[in-house]
Amino acid sequence: MIGQIIDGKAVAARLRAEVAAAASALRGRQIVPTLAVVLVGDDPASAVYVRSKTKAAREANVDIRDHKLPATTSQAELMALVVTLNADPIVDGILVQLPLPAGLDADAVLRAIDPDKDVDGLHPTNLGYLAQGRPVFAPCTPSGCMRLLQEVGAELAGARAVVIGRSVLVGKPVALLLSNANATVTLCHSKTRDLAGEVRRADIVVAAIGRPELVRGEWIREGAIVLDVGVNRMPDGKLVGDVEFSTAAQRARAITPVPGGVGPMTIACLLDNTVTAARRRRA
Ligand code: GUN
Repeated sequence: MIGQIIDGKAVAARLRAEVAAAASALRGRQIVPTLAVVLVGDDPASAVYVRSKTKAAREANVDIRDHKLPATTSQAELMALVVTLNADPIVDGILVQLPLPAGLDADAVLRAIDPDKDVDGLHPTNLGYLAQGRPVFAPCTPSGCMRLLQEVGAELAGARAVVIGRSVLVGKPVALLLSNANATVTLCHSKTRDLAGEVRRADIVVAAIGRPELVRGEWIREGAIVLDVGVNRMPDGKLVGDVEFSTAAQRARAITPVPGGVGPMTIACLLDNTVTAARRRRA
C-alpha cells in the first residue's frame, strides 16, 4: 500500500485564494496589504525565491515593494533601509531574504525589524510569543507544516512527533507549534544518539536538517505522517528531500514529496501573515 502523497501545491493554491479574498476585502476599505522584500546580493536560489514570492503575491492581491541591494551593501546601509521600512505607513510586512552575504549580521537585521511588521516571524519578540504558546506571527515554513497536518486530518493531541533539525527558521518553531498543539515532541539533530529509534516511534515526522535522504524509509512507522522540509540539490541537478521518499511512501499514511510538498506552503503563509499584519495595523 502506498500512502497519500500530499499535494502542497494544491493546498497552497487554496490558501492563496483565501488570502486573496481577505486582501480584496481590505482593499475595499482602502487598505492595500503591502510586503517589502529585501534581497541583498545575487544568491541564485534567493533570486528564485524572490521571483516566486512576487508572482504569488500578485495573485493574492498583495502589493510587493522590491528592494534589491548589491552584495557590497554595508550593515549600516541595510539597517537604515529597515528603519525606513519600519517607519513607512504603507508597508505592512518586511521580509529580508536569508542568507545574507558573508560579513552581514542577519541576527542584528532581524532584531531591527518592527515586530508588528515581522511577517517572517523571526524577530525574538515573535519567537518569544510562539514559545509562550500565543503566536502572533509564526515563521512561514513551520506554519505551512501545521496547515498540511490539518489538511490530512492528523490527530495531534497526544501524538508522538519527531522533528529532525533545530534551526531557528524551521526545526525549533515547528517543534513549538506541535507542542502548542499538544503533541509530545522530540527535537532531534546531528548529535542525536539513535535517530532511527526516535523516528521508529513517531506518529509524525518532520525532517528539516538538509541532509539528502538521511531518514531511511524503513525507519518510518506504519501509518505515520511524514513532512519533508529538505530541499537538497544533487550533483545531477535533481532535488531530493531529507527522507528516502519511495520506501517511506510505502509505510506512511501520508507524505509530502520534494518538490511540491512543504515548499509551496511557505510563500502562501508569508502572504497570509502579510494580510494579518495589514489588518492588525490598519483595520
Ligand atoms: N530563505 C529561505 N527561506 C526563508 C524564509 O522563510 N525567510 C527568509 N527571510 N529567508 C529565507
